[in-house]
Amino acid sequence: APVPIPDLTSCVIPPKEFPTDLQSISCCPPLSSNIIDFKFPTFEKLRVRPAAQLVNDDYFAKYNKALELMRALPDDDPRSFYQQASVHCAYCVGGYTQQGYPDTELQVHNSWLFLPFHRWYLYFYERILGSLIDDPTFAIPYWNWDAPDGMQIPSIFTNPNSSLYDPKRNTTHQPPTIVDLNYDKKNPSNNPAEKQIIINLNLMHRQMISNSKTNRQFLGSPYRGGDEPFKGAGSIENLPHTPVHIWTGDPREKHGEDMGHFYAAGRDPVFYAHHANIDRMWYVWKQLGKKRKNFSDPDWLESSFLFYDENKNLVEVKVKDSVDEKKLGYRYQDVNIPWIKSIP
Ligand code: C2O
Repeated sequence: APVPIPDLTSCVIPPKEFPTDLQSISCCPPLSSNIIDFKFPTFEKLRVRPAAQLVNDDYFAKYNKALELMRALPDDDPRSFYQQASVHCAYCVGGYTQQGYPDTELQVHNSWLFLPFHRWYLYFYERILGSLIDDPTFAIPYWNWDAPDGMQIPSIFTNPNSSLYDPKRNTTHQPPTIVDLNYDKKNPSNNPAEKQIIINLNLMHRQMISNSKTNRQFLGSPYRGGDEPFKGAGSIENLPHTPVHIWTGDPREKHGEDMGHFYAAGRDPVFYAHHANIDRMWYVWKQLGKKRKNFSDPDWLESSFLFYDENKNLVEVKVKDSVDEKKLGYRYQDVNIPWIKSIP
């Protein structure tokens, strides 16, 4: 069976896997008695998600404004930044059970749901931002960590006076420090920049090409309705997705907040840029050819999630409607993909 929507009325406070010292925080969304079915958006042109290191001042001002407005919404407004961050918390630390399986946790990591879930999450985040500034063409930037000129925290996120900033980040990993896509907190590497760049490109080649020849290798293992979670992550979810989270988070914080823990990751605006690049990797992977095709298993295609949209409607979405990003109205700015030729 496909994984069903979460049962919002049974949202647990505090979530099951929540750090025990933070038991007072809730990630449950506001309730709504009405769930509507997703409809594809209409648009004239595809929105283009830009590489974060390439955007101009106007773009930065626009995103800064949109996020400022989102942060200013009251906490109980499902479009608020507070609620957007809570989406990740609820779906990822045992906040929900699966509708129809009251004893079974719903978890979107470590399985074939990882890429579609986060695609939907970004879709609504982006649409809400666009509606707040009344610009339906607004598209979120991606953190282009798979290419040398994107391998630092993008500078638009590092100005302490902007709404894109988050103080809970590793202070020693600020630009121009090159990200370690295989970061190990206990045993951090200390490579000179040029060497780290090559190591990163080799890792990307491995994860995107050698270790991603089939849908199961790339997207992750099947996880069906009623299953216990953690079936097995796809290549890109393992690396570099998780190390980039931990590398970015603040080691002075008990749980590596914000980026270093599921419950808090969505509180850092750079999260959405990180995930836009993860989403871009899915878009690039499909173009690499051979056996690289999405699953056709109905249990994957019919799995569903709930999100609030830009009009505060609670919407049920299905994996099958996420597989073609063009139908969702966006594409990614084309940049060089140097890891394609970086054979380790
Ligand atoms: Cu929902 Cu980057 O994890």
